[in-house]
Formats: sequence, C-alpha cells, structure tokens
Amino acid sequence: KASERESLLLVTEFASQFYSDCLWNTEKGKAIGLTYFKERGFSEATIRHFGLGYNPDQWDAFTRAALEKGYQLDFLEKTGLTIVKKPDRDGGEEKHFDRFKGRVLFPIHSMSGRVLGFGGRTLSNDKKQAKYLNSPESDIYHKSKVLYGIYYAKQAIAREDACYLVEGYTDVIQLHQSGIENVVASSGTALTPDQIRLVRRLTQNIVVLFDGDAAGLRASLRGIDLILEEGMNVRVCTFPPGEDPDSFARKNSREAIEAYLKENARDFIQFKTALLTEEAASDPIRKAETIRDIVSSIARIPDRIKREVYIQECASLMGISEGVLFSTLAQMGRKQA
Ligand code: CTP
Ligand code: MN
Ligand code: MN
Ligand code: MN
Ligand code: MN
Repeated sequence: KASERESLLLVTEFASQFYSDCLWNTEKGKAIGLTYFKERGFSEATIRHFGLGYNPDQWDAFTRAALEKGYQLDFLEKTGLTIVKKPDRDGGEEKHFDRFKGRVLFPIHSMSGRVLGFGGRTLSNDKKQAKYLNSPESDIYHKSKVLYGIYYAKQAIAREDACYLVEGYTDVIQLHQSGIENVVASSGTALTPDQIRLVRRLTQNIVVLFDGDAAGLRASLRGIDLILEEGMNVRVCTFPPGEDPDSFARKNSREAIEAYLKENARDFIQFKTALLTEEAASDPIRKAETIRDIVSSIARIPDRIKREVYIQECASLMGISEGVLFSTLAQMGRKQA
C-alpha cells in the first residue's frame, strides 16, 4: 500500500511538471493560462513559486503525455487526473479524458511539499461549468485533511505564531504576494478538525478571514466553534461586502492590508456579540438567543480557565450577570462536535 501511494505521488509530481510546462512553454498555455494569472495580478515569481499550471483544452493531452512516459493508466485513474470511460453496451473503445481539460491549475501540497492533488479553475464564463474542480478523494488526497498553502506558510506561521485562514486558492496566493505568508485555505470544504490540527502543530492562534458575503459569514461562524473545540484561540476579520482577501489585497498596499487586519481582527466573542446584537437590536427575545448562542460557543472551549475568562467578557459586553451565564454554561455542558 505504501508503494502504491508512492506511485500515485509520482503521477501527481509528473502532472504538476506537465501542467507548469504547458503554462510556460506552449503557445496556448502562454496566451491563455499565463495571461489569465497575470491579469489576476500574479507576478511571474508568484506563479512559479506556487507551481501554477495549465492543462491544454484537448481531450487527453495530459493522459497521452503520461502514458508515453510510462505511467500506468491504473495510477492515472486513481489520482483522478484521468477519467476512464469504459466501452458502453454497443461496444466501441475505452476512452481516456483529462479531468482538468482547459483549466488553470493550483497544485495542492502536503506539509512536506509533496503534490497530493489539484484545484482547477475554469477560464470560461459559462455558468454551467463548475468554477473550480478539485482532485477526487484518493489514497493520497483526502480533502478533509489538507490545507491549501500549508507547505508555503508553515515557517511564517511558526515565526508569526499565528495563521490566517481564508477560503480560496487565490486568497492565499495574493496575500502571500503582498508579503503576508502565514496563510492557508480550507478550499471550499467546510473546515474540519483534521485541518485545524495541522495548524495546531505550528501555532495556537487562528485568524479567520472569510469572504465578505453571506456564505463567508456562515462559514466563519461554523469555523469559530470548531477552532474553539480544538482548544485554539480564534479571531475573526471580516471584509467589506463583495470583497474577499484576494480582491482586497490586490487593491491595497502591504501596509494598508496589515493595518486593516490589525484594526478589524476581533476576538471571536467580540465578533459574535457585534454581529448578533446588530441583528437583535433591542428585541429582548433576540438578545436572549444571542447570549445563548455565545455561551454555546464558550461551552466548546476545553480549558476551564479560558471558559471563565470568556464568560466574564461576555457578561460585561452584554450587560448581564456572570451568575446567569455560568448556570447557562453548566446546563449546556461541554458541546461535542
Ligand atoms: N470552490 C470549489 N468549487 C466551487 C467554488 C469554490 O471548490 N465550485 C472552493 C475553491 O477552493 C475556492 C473556494 O471554494 O477557492 C472559495 O470560493 P469562492 O470565494 O467562490 O472562489 P474564489 O477563491 O474567490 O475564486 P475566484 O476569485 O477565482 O473567483
Ligand atoms: Mn493519506
Ligand atoms: Mn465566496
Ligand atoms: Mn472568494
Ligand atoms: Mn475571489
């Protein structure tokens, strides 16, 4: 089984080289893929650093190249980079297709820098095409256990003793290019405990930077509770409506981004209080729900002393007695994921 994993890793490594070769050294790759990345504001150095690539818009350009090099079809299929279509009832031949045909590619690395899989973005505006396609689950790629960018971010995370968590590939890359390197992305999956534990090896502090839209907000709220459950400290910084870290970083200097993050990152409890009170206004029933919601987040914190500190904070922010909050907390007990 270990040797099969190694075979799959050799395929993804070859694929990554093939895609990047197509991006830099073919006419279509340069005209379509490289131009796309540059128009998004990525420098050549950044494009190389992240190993970005392009899969030609032909049925099987990658698959043919890999087979020619002697990679086995079975392994190409297991990485999901090749889709094998068996002959149907009327006969015909078995057909092989490139999963990422016509897409630009973001290789996804393990903590130690092996290529585990890819995210592929469409270049067409056709709404019927999924904007991003990702590698399917395999022996080497488990989407719930990887964080995009962790290989490029790990030193900065340890050095800064903090990790920014964003939603997408381009958010990681754009922030990195702006000099903020301690960034990883959950890449479209709802954040998982395994992903949080990857970060926990490097720091106790996560700052959630999700998109300034309803989906981003919902994802932040879910993320907060999971991060608290893993015993980590969580801060949240929201972006103006319609902005994500990528678009924001593109419009602003490094200094302005850092200033924005510094001013707007708030401890989870201040974030939740502000958010929920805004919604609840002066309605006492809504206010009660808000308080319960915040206490239910606090209930997830494993450390008792931290729980107490947060209860005190919540009491003073919401203007309610600590005693009531402590008894609510006791009723809830420790929440399980
Ligand atoms: N995602 C995905 N499949 C989709 C849409 C999104 O896997 N159909 C994942 C991608 O990892 C994406 C992340 O969710 O990076 C965030 O989604 P979104 O904010 O919609 O995309 P952006 O990263 O902002 O992409 P872009 O700027 O290229 O539009
Ligand atoms: Mn694995
Ligand atoms: Mn979004
Ligand atoms: Mn986004
Ligand atoms: Mn975006």
